[in-house]
Amino acid sequence: MPKPKYTSHVGMVDILPDESPKWRALETIIHEEAAKFNFEEIRTPIMEQTELIVRGIGQLTDIVSKEIFAFEKGDSHYVLRPELTAPVVRAFVEHHMEQRGGSQKLYYIGPMFRAERPQKGRQRQFHQFGAEVLGSDDPVADVEIIALMIRVYERVGISNFELKLNSVGDPESREAYKEALREYLKPNLGKLSELSQKRFEKNPMRILDSKEDEDQPFIKDAPVINDYLNEESKAHFQQVKDYLDDLGINYTLDPHLVRGLDYYTRTAFELTSPDLGSQDALAGGGRYDLLVEEIGGPSTPAIGFAAGMERLFIACEELEIELAKEKSVDVYFVTLGDAARKWALTHLPKAREAGLSATMDYMSRSMKAQMKDANRENAHYTIIIGDNELAEGKFTLRNMKESEEISLGFEDILAKLGV
Ligand code: HAM
Repeated sequence: MPKPKYTSHVGMVDILPDESPKWRALETIIHEEAAKFNFEEIRTPIMEQTELIVRGIGQLTDIVSKEIFAFEKGDSHYVLRPELTAPVVRAFVEHHMEQRGGSQKLYYIGPMFRAERPQKGRQRQFHQFGAEVLGSDDPVADVEIIALMIRVYERVGISNFELKLNSVGDPESREAYKEALREYLKPNLGKLSELSQKRFEKNPMRILDSKEDEDQPFIKDAPVINDYLNEESKAHFQQVKDYLDDLGINYTLDPHLVRGLDYYTRTAFELTSPDLGSQDALAGGGRYDLLVEEIGGPSTPAIGFAAGMERLFIACEELEIELAKEKSVDVYFVTLGDAARKWALTHLPKAREAGLSATMDYMSRSMKAQMKDANRENAHYTIIIGDNELAEGKFTLRNMKESEEISLGFEDILAKLGV
């Protein structure tokens, strides 16, 4: 086929009608599980001020330094949101949501934008579902967030994931650790990758996240943050682990898990799947106890997660999990002649009111072509309507799967099929 003149932007994909049922099925699961956890939905705009995202996520992160879609309008600078934690915090501060009382338990579903090099599991417009708890530093919040995240995968039928867990400490613990890390890496600084050399001064912890071959021997034996946690961070982390144990949620401790966003403090986690290939992170999250204040709000500890929906679907494909039922319609009105078409058009609403999905031919096709179309649409029943049927007030109701036919009045048909 010739290449079309207009295509979607690279890394941004259309969700076509054959795929939308699985999206809706997943969204339903997310809404249901979030409701069971007593979380409330929040929807924020697609665009945010550049400064919010730069301050929120961190100037030196990959997202801010390379992956942002930025716009200018007059004097205003905007970006397409690359994630939703900073925007949710912005909304929390802007609307003084702490005044609603208690901790705010929020969740969201929606598109995010990162100008990454597209590959399997990595798009420029992708979708996340996620949840944030603002106003609690109780380890109960950490564990409920992790439990909600995992619950969605369980509902979908994905269970062969790994939960990687770490504590990146509070600022005091982190300063001590960064110092130790610099000390350890310094003698071999020249042998590290260019990127890691750049990160050495300002953000040596990100070196642990490096995928560069030349960095690996040094990462392997690097000091671990757990040895530098102060008493408070250590106790918090222990409580999170104990509660996870109590809930029977398995995890692997990964002292090198640092995550690619600067706002994290204390608990950090990632959910990975062996079914995803190189982009193996299904979801990730952690605490960001300082972000609300950083953005101008009251001191408010917080924790959350976000999960990639396209990656969840890739895992489903690998595991042969079908989230959506095959498309179908309850009843297809097959018409012969103009009077029958008019009758069908005016009786479709009655079928729909009875709770059925119902359709008819829009193309004035022959009866044979309509029967073929009814098969293609996976109609459970057809009602055959012609001049004789209209005169008699009785119609042939055909069960398409069983190939059985009976003749009934329209009200009786609705009584038989109605839900
Ligand atoms: P993140 O690790 O940057 O965290 O993204 C979370 C998930 O989004 C990833 O694990 C992955 O499944 C998916 N994802 C990220 N980038 C792409 C992409 N280019 N294409 C497809 N999927 C992608 C966050 O966004 C934080 N806001 C999570 C959080 C919430 N932390 C605290 N609260």
